[in-house]
This record gives sequence, C-alpha cells and structure tokens, in this order.
Amino acid sequence: MRSKTLAFLAAGLGTALTLTACGANQAAPPASGGSSDTASSGPGIPVGVILPETATSARWEGFDKPMLEAAMKAKGLEPDIQNAQGDVQKFTTLADGMISQGVKVLVIASINSEVGTAVAAKAKARGIPTIDYDRLNLGGSSDYYVSFDNVKVGELQGQGLADALKDKPGAQVIEIEGAPTDNNATLFYNGQQNVLKPLYEAGTLKLVQKQAIDGWDNQKGGTTFEQILTGNGGKVDGVVAANDGLAGAVITVLRKNGLNGKVPVTGQDATADGLMAILRGDQYMTVFKPIKEEAENTASLAALLAKGDTAGADALAKQSSDDTKANRKVKSVLLEPKLTTKDTVKEVVTQGYVKASEICGGDLAPVCSQLGIS
Ligand code: BGC
Repeated sequence: MRSKTLAFLAAGLGTALTLTACGANQAAPPASGGSSDTASSGPGIPVGVILPETATSARWEGFDKPMLEAAMKAKGLEPDIQNAQGDVQKFTTLADGMISQGVKVLVIASINSEVGTAVAAKAKARGIPTIDYDRLNLGGSSDYYVSFDNVKVGELQGQGLADALKDKPGAQVIEIEGAPTDNNATLFYNGQQNVLKPLYEAGTLKLVQKQAIDGWDNQKGGTTFEQILTGNGGKVDGVVAANDGLAGAVITVLRKNGLNGKVPVTGQDATADGLMAILRGDQYMTVFKPIKEEAENTASLAALLAKGDTAGADALAKQSSDDTKANRKVKSVLLEPKLTTKDTVKEVVTQGYVKASEICGGDLAPVCSQLGIS
C-alpha cells in the first residue's frame, strides 16, 4: 500500500515537473497531433508510457509526449505518459506504479538497456506486453520495437558533413557522439562511419578525435569538444554532433572561438533550436524524424496488443532489429529519417512540428521570408 502511494506521488511529481520544465532545449508542442477518426469518448484502455529524459533533447517533451498522447487517444487508449528525467530509480518507480495501476501495455523509452530490460521483465511477469520505443533495450524481452532506421540517421549525418566539406580536402573532423549506453548512439555512429570511414582512409577527411558523451549530456558535450579543440591547437573544419542538443553546445564553443558559421556541424531531431542554428548558418544539417509516425505506429501496436491481437501486431511490425546482446531479432517498425538543411527547414514547419513564429523571430525574420517560411 505504502509503495503504491509512493509510486502515485512519484508519478504526480513527474507530471508537475513536466508541466513546469522549461529551458533552452525545450520545444513547443506541435501544431497537430494524431488523427481523430477513431477517437472514443469516455475512459479508454489504460496504457503506460515512460520517457527517458528532458535535458538530452527537446524531442521527448516537445514532440513525443504530445504526439503519443494524441495518437493513443485516437485509438481509444487512455495513456499515462511520464518522464523519468534521466533518473533510473525514478524510471523503475514509475514503471512499478503503472504496472500496479493495471496498464494493459507498457511503452518503454529507456534511459539505458539495463533499466529498460528490468522493467520489461517485471511487466512480462505480470502478463503485460511491452513495446520498446525509439531505443532498443539490448538483452531485453520486449516483443516489439518502434523507431527509425537509426543507421540511416547516422548515414545522413555522415553524408551531410561530407557534402559540406567537399571543397576542403584533408578537412579535420571532430566527432561528438551520443551515450555509449544507448543502442541508438551505436547505430548512429555505425551509419556515420559507413560514409566517413572510407573518406578518412583515403585522406579526403582527417579524424582528429571521436568521443562518446555519457548520458547525451549536452554540457559535457560542449566541454569535451572544447578540450579536443584546444588539444588540436584550435583547429577544426567540421564536427559530427550526434543530435541538436550536442550541436548547440558545440556551436557555443565555436562562437567563443570566432568559428561559428565557418565550421559545419551536424545534428538530429529538428528541434526549434537546431532549426534556428541552421537558418543562422551555424549548423549545417539536422535529421528530421517524423515522430508523429513513430507515435501513431506505437499507438496502433499498443491498441492491438491490448486486445491480444498478436497476429495484427505482427502484421504491423514487419521489419526486424538485432538485439546483439540477447542474440535475438525483435519485430520492428523502422521509419524513414530525412536530411534537413537550410533549403528544407520549411518542410518541418509545413508538417506542423515547429511553428514559424518559434524560429523566425529577430535576425532570422529576413532568412525565413527569403525561404518562404511563414
Ligand atoms: C534518440 C534521439 C535523441 C537522443 C537523446 C536517442 O536515443 O533517438 O532522437 O536525440 O536519444 O535524447
């Protein structure tokens, strides 16, 4: 009883934090949510969703949360969506609370594979199906996984940087990578190397240093980049930053050194800050992942699993992902990421992910009108 109360309080606290959380790395809710064709009135089937963090990317609270909420409601589900704020203990407490509240499906976007695997095992023991969301838990037991083609995400980043440096033979590159405990970060890295490794080997580009950043910590990304830059005598021609948050931290250091706008930087997530950095010329590209599709596929899978329709779920999750730790294949929906540069920022606005008013203020107003973004 006491633990139930604690779990409830923790869940409530999560909501309060979510509502009041506000910072530079925070996106506004999207203009449009899921379709309302099958929206039901009255309470739907309870489904739990645990998101990992807020500080590593604006996506989780800005895109995933409202889009999952809308998509799940449209499928007649009643979602309880909480964010663990990067705290593994809190992640576990939230999961315990949802399991004891009787959710019919648990959607897990884990902080790391260890906690995600432990939570999935607990749910499984209670007969609750789980879906790994965005991040695959290595060594886990979820039967389904919904994400993007994450190797392709890395390839787009590698290709973006290679394009930006095509007229600079021997250009010096620093790589600031995601968390080593996030399987996605490994896939992004693998994708980048598919493009960059041959260029390093041919001497077309030169790798100064690569560094993974624990917990995708944006600040740590900035200080790490600064140390590498200083160690290289202040010389850099291009930066692989694994997402927009890390890119923002890198750009701050470049600006301090009078290098912003001269050194192409990659990114990911198409956050408002990332898009503004692109419009300003400080960031070369981002990867736009249409999270609405990720949310809608997750909602569809959850609705099928809640009804015990595994044949329907299998028909939806036709792709497969490798769990390299458990040595098994996980049925997956893997969506297409898109390369976004200055010329295509407009598309992210047109699709309702950010509003023109969020990215076109002040010095960027003329850039937006030139690009037809309004
Ligand atoms: C997600 C990225 C995100 C990163 C940090 C990854 O697992 O796929 O979209 O930028 O985590 O939150």
